[in-house]
Amino acid sequence: MRNLPKDFIMGGATAAYQAEGATMEGGKGPVAWDEFLIEKGRYTAEPASDFYHQFPIDLELCEKFKIDSIRMSIAWSRIFPNGFGEVNQEGVDYYHSVFAECRKRNVMPFVTIHHFDTPKTLFDNGDFLNRENVEHFVNFAKFCFEEFTEVHYWSTFNEIYPVATNQYLTGAFPPEIQFDLKKTVTCLHNMMWAHARAVNIFKENNYEGEIGVVHSLEPKYPASDSPEDLHAAMLDDALSVKFLLDATYLGYYSNSTMDAITEILEANETSVEFDENDFIEMKKAATRNDYLGINNYHSHWVKEYKGESTLHYNTTGKKGTQVYKIKGIGERIKRDDLPKTDWDWIIYPEGLYDLLVRIKQDYPNYNKIYITENGMGYKDHFEEGIIMDEPRIDYLRGYFNSISRAIEDGVNVKGYFIWSLMDVFSWVNGYNKRYGLFYVDFETQKRYPKESAYWYKLVSETKTII
Ligand code: NOJ
Repeated sequence: MRNLPKDFIMGGATAAYQAEGATMEGGKGPVAWDEFLIEKGRYTAEPASDFYHQFPIDLELCEKFKIDSIRMSIAWSRIFPNGFGEVNQEGVDYYHSVFAECRKRNVMPFVTIHHFDTPKTLFDNGDFLNRENVEHFVNFAKFCFEEFTEVHYWSTFNEIYPVATNQYLTGAFPPEIQFDLKKTVTCLHNMMWAHARAVNIFKENNYEGEIGVVHSLEPKYPASDSPEDLHAAMLDDALSVKFLLDATYLGYYSNSTMDAITEILEANETSVEFDENDFIEMKKAATRNDYLGINNYHSHWVKEYKGESTLHYNTTGKKGTQVYKIKGIGERIKRDDLPKTDWDWIIYPEGLYDLLVRIKQDYPNYNKIYITENGMGYKDHFEEGIIMDEPRIDYLRGYFNSISRAIEDGVNVKGYFIWSLMDVFSWVNGYNKRYGLFYVDFETQKRYPKESAYWYKLVSETKTII
């Protein structure tokens, strides 16, 4: 049996829009999701897990189950209902009361500033394609640093790549634009520039605490040894991994990254120009990140693809329906020989090990890493308050073993946050894809510990991966 370091943080992750509910309560301003979900008519984020009211219960559960830290986000439109300007004091007071409860329960808040929930006014105005909104984001971040002095760990953004691609490449998120590589790359860059500016403000004002960014990083492997498949995997990796890590830790895009991005853009008959001044801020920030947050759920195998872009996003949990073929990049293949979740996410713990070792080698100034999300979406079976989720425990055991091996091989991984602490609302799946350690009966809002919660508690207490 493998071990984890004694000071390894065992956390649980949430996000404001997915957990809080109360989307129109407490003076909160709207976000694009509110209207979008109503239009789709399938489900809404109301009342989600009602964290807005239930947070004392969730934090008590953290204490009982030895969960050291809660990853959570501050809803921008609870603080600035219009994205900027007038402050909503009720929203400010709400987060102060959450942090006070964290303190009471000995649970450390690990706080994300932006988790997929730009205020609607700014979203409608172009979101991060509009560089004015970068100013508004930076001002919101600065407000948080000054106001919420209870917080030690700050993450600027959650998952820049999924924001850009789900909004402008796959169209799974509002505004549902597909295959627009120009917008995708522009959004990635503008968000990395915004991240850098927030980091620089944090460091130049000497705020107490640590700051980093949470990236979704999914390793890409070639589907075969052919030069064509190797090239396709390289292109997919360049857009989804290297572009972001270069921006974060170099402060510019290396030549090999830019060659790949230019090739992808040209195949899609477009191009992108960056403002050279952005790299001044980005280079300054590159050595100032205190940590890297990694969200990792699965890995991809990529083969050459020469056709037009075509996609099917498996949102229903009907196994085998996922299709991902992008012009100028490649096709992510199914790999029938590897286990996968009902949503076609390939379970491959080795991928996380490979990723961790690669970051240590390629970006030696990474400082330290927290696994800020990992976990298994599962159709949990509830029987008289008992939820036996062994597949989730197996999944976690596999990924924990990879982390432990990476630590042994010298990678500085300091903690882990399971996605999710309790079952929450899922952006494109609603409520049937459950990830929590605690089962939420969304009708009554009652919480029930799953078998995995007892397993997690034991791992946290013993630091042994049982
Ligand atoms: C990544 C996101 O940060 C989170 O919001 C999402 O629900 C999980 N992954 C699961 O898909």
